[in-house]
Amino acid sequence: MESSQFVLASRPIGLPSSDNFRIEKAVLNELQDNEVLLKSWYISVDPYMRGRMNSVKSYAASFEVDQPIRGGIVAKVIESKSKLIIAGDTVVGMLPWATYSIEKAENLRKVDVQKVPPGYYLGVLGMPGFTAYFGMIEIGKPKKGETVVISGAAGAVGIVAGQIAKIQGSKVIGIAGSDEKCRLLKEKFGFDKAINYKTSKSIRKEIGVLCPEGVDVYYDNVGGEITDAVVANLDFHARIALCGQISQYNNTKPYAGPSLLPMLLTRSVRLQGFIVSNYSDRLDEALSNLTQWLNEGKLKYTETIIEGFNKLPDAFLGLFSGKNQGKMLVKTE
Ligand SMILES: NC(=O)c1ccc[n+]([C@@H]2O[C@H](COP(=O)([O-])OP(=O)(O)OC[C@H]3O[C@@H](n4cnc5c(N)ncnc54)[C@H](OP(=O)(O)O)[C@@H]3O)[C@@H](O)[C@H]2O)c1
Repeated sequence: MESSQFVLASRPIGLPSSDNFRIEKAVLNELQDNEVLLKSWYISVDPYMRGRMNSVKSYAASFEVDQPIRGGIVAKVIESKSKLIIAGDTVVGMLPWATYSIEKAENLRKVDVQKVPPGYYLGVLGMPGFTAYFGMIEIGKPKKGETVVISGAAGAVGIVAGQIAKIQGSKVIGIAGSDEKCRLLKEKFGFDKAINYKTSKSIRKEIGVLCPEGVDVYYDNVGGEITDAVVANLDFHARIALCGQISQYNNTKPYAGPSLLPMLLTRSVRLQGFIVSNYSDRLDEALSNLTQWLNEGKLKYTETIIEGFNKLPDAFLGLFSGKNQGKMLVKTE
C-alpha cells in the first residue's frame, strides 16, 4: 500500500520555510502480529518540533534529514493484527507525518471521539493540556486572590493555563499578539484582562497598571522582551513556570536581554523550567481533572483546524506568526 509522507528535507537556519520539508511517496509493509494500519486524521503541529529540526542534543531526539517528521496524531484504525486495538477504533500516538502508517498497538492509546472532538486529544486532553496543568498546579501554584500573568496566552497551552488559574481563584492577565485574541481571552475564556504585545507602547508599564500589587505567578510560554517586562513587575515570593521560549526558537544568536537574576534574587522569586514528560507518571490525574472541568463547563477550548495533509508545513510555520487561536491542527480529510 502507498502512503504520502513529509520528511525533513534540510535543517533550517533561523525561521524555517516550506523548503525544509519534502513530500514523498512511501510503500507500507505487510502488517505483522500486534501491528495496526492507521489512517491519519488530525495531525498536531507544535512549537517544540522546531527544536527537533536542529541537530543539537536536547530532551527530544532530532529529526533526521530525509526521514519522516513525527508528532502527535489522532488516527483511525483501518486494519489490525492486534487484540487490543481493532479496525474502527480511533487512537492517538506519536506517528510519522504520513497519510497512512503502521504502528505497534502497544504504542497507541485508544480514545473516545463520541464525547469530545478528536483534536482535543492533541490539545486540552493531550500534551498541551497536561503541560498547562502541571506547570500551573505544580510550579505556579496560584492561590485565591493572587495575580497570574500568562504569555502566549491564546495558544494551545496558554488558554488552558489561564483557565486553571481562574479555577484556583486567581486574577488572570493574558498576553497575546492581536486584539481579536485578547477579546477571545476575556469574553470566551474568562481572563480578567489581556494585553496585545504587538500594539502595546510599553508592556512593562501596562502590566504595572493592571497588577498594582505585583505579579505572583508568571507562566512563560514565549521568553524574550515579554518576559523581561513581566519579571520587572514580579512581587516578593513570585513563582515562574518556565514552559516555553518560542520567541527564541529561531534565533541564530543568543538573546541579550536584561540580566534578570538580580531581580529574582532580591524578590525571592522561584523559577522552574519543566518538560511535561517530567510528570509522565501522573497523566491520569491531569486527564481526569481536565475532563471534569470540561464537563462542568469550567474549562473551554478552541482549535484552529487547517484542512489538507499537504498544508502541514504551512500550519507548522503559522505557529511562529501567530496564525492559531488555541490548538493548531491539520485535518487530513
Ligand atoms: N515545557 C513543555 O513540556 C512544553 C510543552 C508544550 C509546549 N511548550 C511550549 O509552550 C509554548 C506554547 O506552546 P503551544 O503548543 O501552546 O503553542 P501555541 O501557543 O498554540 O502557538 C504558538 C504561539 O506563540 C506565539 N508566538 C509566536 N512567535 C512569538 C514571538 N516571537 N513572541 C511572542 N509570541 C510568539 C503566537 O501567538 P501570538 O499571536 O500571541 O504571538 C503563536 O500562536 C511554546 O513555547 C512551546 O514550546 C512547552
